[in-house]
Amino acid sequence: MSQDDPLFHPFQLGPLTLPNRVVMAPLTRARAGEPGDFPHAMNAAYYRQRAGMGLIISEATQVSPQGKGYAFTPGIHSDEQVAGWREVTDAVHQAGGRMHLQLWHVGRISRPELQPHGDTPVAPSAIKPNAQTFISAESGMVDVLEPRALAADELPGVVEQFRAGAENAKRAGFDGVEIHAANGYLLDQFLRSGSNQRTDAYGGSPENRVRLTMMVVEAVKEVWETERVGIRISPTGSFNDMGDDDPMTTYRVLAEQLQATGIGYVEMVEDSFQCNHAKGRPESVIDAVRGAYTGPYIANGGYTPEEARQRIDAGRCDLVSFGRPAIANPDLPERLRHGWPLNDWDSSTFYDGDEGGYTDYPFYQ
Ligand code: PHB
Repeated sequence: MSQDDPLFHPFQLGPLTLPNRVVMAPLTRARAGEPGDFPHAMNAAYYRQRAGMGLIISEATQVSPQGKGYAFTPGIHSDEQVAGWREVTDAVHQAGGRMHLQLWHVGRISRPELQPHGDTPVAPSAIKPNAQTFISAESGMVDVLEPRALAADELPGVVEQFRAGAENAKRAGFDGVEIHAANGYLLDQFLRSGSNQRTDAYGGSPENRVRLTMMVVEAVKEVWETERVGIRISPTGSFNDMGDDDPMTTYRVLAEQLQATGIGYVEMVEDSFQCNHAKGRPESVIDAVRGAYTGPYIANGGYTPEEARQRIDAGRCDLVSFGRPAIANPDLPERLRHGWPLNDWDSSTFYDGDEGGYTDYPFYQ
């Protein structure tokens, strides 16, 4: 590759100097230690291998027992989990990397089997999505159920779960956090009209639907300097049965409010999730967001390295996050820098399991 490869222009992300524009996207791998959903040595080895990424964003990590929606995903609400994540961040930092933790509450994408006391999962409205989760190694994918609508006076408690997760992420040695407001999980369920039919201050107008997300942003900003707080959104994603009547308006309003907070970055899923962009990118929604929000911007969604270079060169994004290529190539930036071939991924080992398909993808020889 030429010396002028845009993927290798350093980028200043708040206080962090990223050596390249290749970001590791948040990726659920379902390999936490059990019981207790805690990160352990194998997870530290996996992230250490990927320390050459400009920035690592951790897999989605539940902020509370209520925020859990899948078997074997890690949390950030117990001392054991904080200690496990500390092992991970120490490993990444020793290898020269930078890492954010993704703060996650799944809302209705859960099951009583995964909830404290077998409770019914919660959501903005009691609308059952056409969506699945896995509750055990043997369960396979099972349908989620009709959730319980959260009362307005429960929402400060939800915000508190995110704030506590942010505190714990600091104790665990992360460089920052990313608020998960995408892909059909709790904050996204509030943002979009298809899943939010509330008639109180948290539903109806875009201003009302963005309220809970902005309360979370404000709470997390009390813990972390603003430049170290990012957010992930997916305005046109359909994963987990999501949709919005008017994504342009909803996300313009959100982007305006994010701009006013000075948030550290926006990461946007620029397709319908899982590389389904056959109909093309939603450029008008991207424009609406980027017209209102002018800070650091990470594009995500099945980009090839060449597309990523073109998008950066064209000023369509600052950074690009890669999912499956980062699973299969621990040394992805080095491979891209030198034009070396990439390993293929094996989707059968994405979730659950051991080192196979996790820490055994080879570095380029
Ligand atoms: C998943 O576990 O399938 C999953 C988790 C978080 C996401 C997307 C998918 O944002």
